[in-house]
Amino acid sequence: MNDRVSVLFVCLGNICRSPLAEAIFRAQVEEAGLASRFDIDSVGTSSYHEGDGPDERTVRSAARRGVTVDHRARQIRSDDLHRFDYVLGMDSENVRRTRRLADATNPDANVRLLRSFDQASPPDAEVPDPYFGGPRGFDDVHDVVERACRGLLVHIRATHDL
Ligand code: 4NP
Repeated sequence: MNDRVSVLFVCLGNICRSPLAEAIFRAQVEEAGLASRFDIDSVGTSSYHEGDGPDERTVRSAARRGVTVDHRARQIRSDDLHRFDYVLGMDSENVRRTRRLADATNPDANVRLLRSFDQASPPDAEVPDPYFGGPRGFDDVHDVVERACRGLLVHIRATHDL
């Protein structure tokens, strides 16, 4: 039996929000001493930035908080929906596109909005897209993602008895 829990973060380009969420969640999992129990990755619904590293603004903003973002962008594939226990979209468009891909191949895929795990925010809250905004947006995104990832980890630990 595979006792690892697999988590996939999804955004549009896979260079800003989802690689950040991947890095923040990984840091939280490591802090909890649970690194060996998780597989964590991120993807984009688009192929716009396939093979690119993370956006420099994301890297800089995260580095100020001691988080290293190191990832190569790739587009989501239908087999991701078989492989990952949790598929977490940053916004409702990411979720819609991911569900559409899942409907064709794996309708049981567990596709949710990341912020639905933040008890302090409404269930339909999104992680805003910082790409076309200023650097302040990246710091705000960091705060939002950090809170949601904490809620996600609490949920997974309770659900999987970790
Ligand atoms: P992300 O941000 O989805 O958080 O990685 C974006 C990155 C690239 C683009 C849009 C959003 N783009 O239009 O290229």
